[in-house]
Amino acid sequence: MGATNVLRFPEGLVWGTATAAYQIEGAWDEDGKGPSIWDTFCRQPRKILNGSSGDVADDHYHRWEEDVEIMAGLGMNAYRFSVSWPRILPDGTGAVNAAGLDFYDRLVDALLAHNIDPYLTLYHWDLPQTLHDAGGWAARETVHHFAEYARIVVERLGDRVTHWITHNEPSVISLLGYLTGEYAPGEINPMAFLQVAHHLFVSHGYATQAIRAAAAKKPEVGIVLHLRPVHPASDSEADRLAARRFDGLVNRLFLNPVFFGRYPEDISELFRMVMPKTEPGDEELMTAPMDFLGVNYYTRFVIRNDPGTFLIQAAEAPPKESEYSMLWEIYEPGLYEMLTRLKREYAPSKILITENGIPVPDGIDFDGRIRDYRRVQYLRDNLVQMHRAIAEGVPVRGYFHWSLLDNFEWSHGYTMRFGLVYVDYATQKRTVKDSGRWFERVARSNALELS
Ligand code: FCB
Repeated sequence: MGATNVLRFPEGLVWGTATAAYQIEGAWDEDGKGPSIWDTFCRQPRKILNGSSGDVADDHYHRWEEDVEIMAGLGMNAYRFSVSWPRILPDGTGAVNAAGLDFYDRLVDALLAHNIDPYLTLYHWDLPQTLHDAGGWAARETVHHFAEYARIVVERLGDRVTHWITHNEPSVISLLGYLTGEYAPGEINPMAFLQVAHHLFVSHGYATQAIRAAAAKKPEVGIVLHLRPVHPASDSEADRLAARRFDGLVNRLFLNPVFFGRYPEDISELFRMVMPKTEPGDEELMTAPMDFLGVNYYTRFVIRNDPGTFLIQAAEAPPKESEYSMLWEIYEPGLYEMLTRLKREYAPSKILITENGIPVPDGIDFDGRIRDYRRVQYLRDNLVQMHRAIAEGVPVRGYFHWSLLDNFEWSHGYTMRFGLVYVDYATQKRTVKDSGRWFERVARSNALELS
């Protein structure tokens, strides 16, 4: 019999799953909720695969009690979810919708009753449509509306919720929402995308202040960034320089402002025609003291020089020999690489893996089980990389798997299943996958068994 190799995690490591309001809640216009930019975007032709939308999604708005039970059954001690801004403020500002606050109030109580610590994201992409019509994230005014929304949520929940995330993935909001147009609001506007990013950073600062001022219990505040190592497609100098530029665009452009209060020099030079307008004091706001950095890790970029691409002159060159999931290259060492780089270059005091997961074409077997072995393998390999980084002193204190449930995967609609729990969208029946049971063992034992 071979000896079993067990990797133990530091005591108190946080284990949870992550979701986002628009991807699971449904009830898009119920109980006074206003429309968001995603409600609008999904109604435009050809934006979402199969023309689907988050109108119903996982119907979590009505099934939240069952979903909390499932989490408890999986041994989770934390849950990351987002609040829908237009559920709280249907017009983004002004009148508060009491029913919206009540929903999250009940959810938080249920989580705490099951010893599941809530990690609340204020903005996971569902900007109230009214605010978008008034200029959206490209308008400076929106940063103040965001801080006011933060204050309202914290005043209601800040006696029980202590972990707060301002924004989820400013890079995706800015680059996919305003440059490539793949995500809501679907703009292709090279003049606006950096201004949008800048306003997200400034609003992160104002919201951080608002959270600290309004919370009844000492809050912990952070931001979540989507980070991917960028590797050159070849050893040529042109490819290496292209990879460096691309890293500037997708990683440093979002890390440097929140850690150093400045944009990276190479990017500021390259994008000098489109750099954002700033105001005195923005540097302090962008670097508002953070208690943790949230890291979403999925894959890496492999990049080649490409003079034809707008300003950045770099393009993706996915390696042929690699293994791929439905969306991305499977590249687990990237998590270790990114975590150790963060420690070296940015030295955050605390890191949470706020998302990590894989879309697998799961199906239910004849006996009702979902044998998603590829997800188990991905999870195990990523946790090994996380353990490696922790052993080298990277202050990782928690891991949230994306996602609890299969859900609405933005422009891919319902075609990408990321859940530890399978959802039959016709009946809304939930079934825990093999990966869910596997993850439960890891969470309960705080250890990883490698045979
Ligand atoms: C991340 C998003 C999350 C989910 C995963 C797959 O970029 O934050 O909502 O869609 O990708």
